Amino acid sequence: MKRIGLLTSGGDAPGMNAAIRAVVRTALYYGMDVFGIERGYAGLIEDTMYKMEMRSVSNIVQLGGTRLRTARCLEMLNPEGQKKAVKTLEKHGIEGLVVIGGDGSFRGAKCLTEDYGIPTIGIPGTIDNDLEYTDYTLGFDTAVNTCLEVINKLRDTMTSHERISVVEVMGRHCGDIALYAGITSGAEIIVVPEISYDMNDIVTRINRSRENGKHSNIVVVAEGAASADEFAKELQELTPYSVRATNIGHIQRGGSPSMADRMLAAQFGNKAVRLLKDGIGNRVVGIHNNSIIDMDIIEAVSMKKRFNYELYETLQMISM
Ligand code: F6P
Repeated sequence: MKRIGLLTSGGDAPGMNAAIRAVVRTALYYGMDVFGIERGYAGLIEDTMYKMEMRSVSNIVQLGGTRLRTARCLEMLNPEGQKKAVKTLEKHGIEGLVVIGGDGSFRGAKCLTEDYGIPTIGIPGTIDNDLEYTDYTLGFDTAVNTCLEVINKLRDTMTSHERISVVEVMGRHCGDIALYAGITSGAEIIVVPEISYDMNDIVTRINRSRENGKHSNIVVVAEGAASADEFAKELQELTPYSVRATNIGHIQRGGSPSMADRMLAAQFGNKAVRLLKDGIGNRVVGIHNNSIIDMDIIEAVSMKKRFNYELYETLQMISM
């Protein structure tokens, strides 16, 4: 394969730029041409691509966001949009496509592969960590670290005022950001979409922690389970301690990627191009048990994300 396309799609994630760099540099190493497609599938449909060179990706490894920009493209869900996308690829002689994005973006890639025979490779780029086939998605580590910075600050002020902080984090339908941020920040309670909660149990846990000498509490709620504002109001009705709500919001999507995310980006980007170079498409790359893996894209998108109940129980035991 001599000519490939590259796009980022869906919600951006820290590490996408580092992955773009790895894809471009690996492709150039093998003497392949790379075309960067701006604004994800929307750009593919509208034909917004340009040839990327060695220096097109200089100085971006440390940057959050995505140099290629991104979009959520509804048109890609219907055959007319898909046909336009295929036409653009044909027009530029693009033989394979690397798609950096989450679940929805992979569905677009799956369709290009399955229905139109275009070899695609998916790189999992989303802060949500909601893809079952890979232990981690690109951006998750940085997003959790950003949440930790915020929660550390909240802990300071909540302890001074002996308050309860309800902090909302993202994750769509997946509780992983709340789970990992909760366990690593020392939050007493996490509320995730995978497990139903009982407000009276939460109040009991808070009371017990206060009896044991705690001066503040952190409750991390995943957006898929509750909104911080509503949860805080409900909790305030049942407790004498003062409750405050914070929604971290899009802050957790930005910022310089962590070492872990830059490393994943380098490995994912490199692996994606090596597959295409060998004429292999219709795969996604990921990490499992510390090894970089690839898997059939159709199989990967059909896997149901499992929640780590063991980590949840660990939190229950050690955050008192
Ligand atoms: O998928 C990433 C994500 O940040 C989710 O956690 C969140 O639900 C969603 O995107 C927010 O989307 P938008 O930026 O379009 O509001």
